[in-house]
Amino acid sequence: MSVTTTPEATTSTSATPHEPSIPSNPASTTRSAAAARERTAVLESQIVRSPGEYRVLTGDRPTGALHLGHLLGTVANRVRLQNLGVEVFLIVADYQVITDRDDAGDLPATVHEVLLDYLAAGIDPERSTVFTHSAVPALNQLLLPFLSLVTVAELERNPTVKAEAEAALLRQKRGISGLLFTYPVHQAADILFCHGNLVPVGVDQLPHLEITRTIARRFNQRYSAAQPYFPEPDALIAPSTAVLGADGRRMSKSRGNALELRASEDETVAYFRRARTDADRMITYEPDRRPEIANLLQIGAHFAGTSPEALADEVGSAGAGQLKTVVTEAVVEGLRPLRARRRELASAGPRHLAEVLARGNARANAIADRTLDDVRALMNMRY
Ligand code: TRP
Repeated sequence: MSVTTTPEATTSTSATPHEPSIPSNPASTTRSAAAARERTAVLESQIVRSPGEYRVLTGDRPTGALHLGHLLGTVANRVRLQNLGVEVFLIVADYQVITDRDDAGDLPATVHEVLLDYLAAGIDPERSTVFTHSAVPALNQLLLPFLSLVTVAELERNPTVKAEAEAALLRQKRGISGLLFTYPVHQAADILFCHGNLVPVGVDQLPHLEITRTIARRFNQRYSAAQPYFPEPDALIAPSTAVLGADGRRMSKSRGNALELRASEDETVAYFRRARTDADRMITYEPDRRPEIANLLQIGAHFAGTSPEALADEVGSAGAGQLKTVVTEAVVEGLRPLRARRRELASAGPRHLAEVLARGNARANAIADRTLDDVRALMNMRY
């Protein structure tokens, strides 16, 4: 039986003519956020030089339409990478919705909204692959061997899962489901099935990426020692810190404090009117001491194409009211093209979106089938 062990060699079919090779990776395994940021800076310059060496895999849980936190945290970054020439895979992680809730809501409607947000934000389905988790069975089949490569203790240590489990307990008085406990391993399959080597994430997702790297390394050691089969993917940390909602806590759909991208201009104005600030009249950019002000500065700076520091100087002693006016204007103007595209796509009906997803799913399936076939061969399970 012959086994293909290099990612390049696995991609000789027409579905993926140019699969990226694996760029060199430092040997370090555990990485603090600071180290990940440093590594991000190095990667950024490599990406600009040779975008074809990278394949991005990232995605979202379809729990609702996307909001400003998604855009600034990761969606804008994905579009930028795509436009630099990096191949981008976006997973709509529908199975992840049921990690911490019984009722997934109206999934078809939510997936529709998320797709509208992606395309309106600039994801180009001709260049990027958008697919849903549940539509790619071979991807999920990788989960079984991957589960064998991590210990329960390692999964228990994951701080992000711990935090999510606590939130689920508080919110709905429910224990940790087996799916919540193991979802970092699913994410490893999400990333590795397509040999993704670059994962743009917020720092909260770093522990998950560490598990992915561990799984890739152990799989290679155990089954593919001569030539590593899976890459050890790198995190690409978002430039800004987490976006806060109007109540000063991290922006999230479940907290009800989010500004959705699809919101109207009036809703946007009202949203920032109720955003929290502080009592200091002088506007300064001090993320640790003045998180609410820093958050508004960051949002405004993103859309105005300037830095939070420069925006703080501009507003200066004019106070929080003026800051809100400036930020609101920047957001309304900055989101205008996205919102116009979104309306256009929405009024064109669901056919186009269904086609985009069908194409993305077909492509993801072709790649996942091939990877699973390689994995079974490497594991001596091809009969
Ligand atoms: N867990 C991510 C979120 O909640 C979504 C996700 C699923 C993901 N699979 C992934 C992100 C793989 C990065 C890589 O937003």
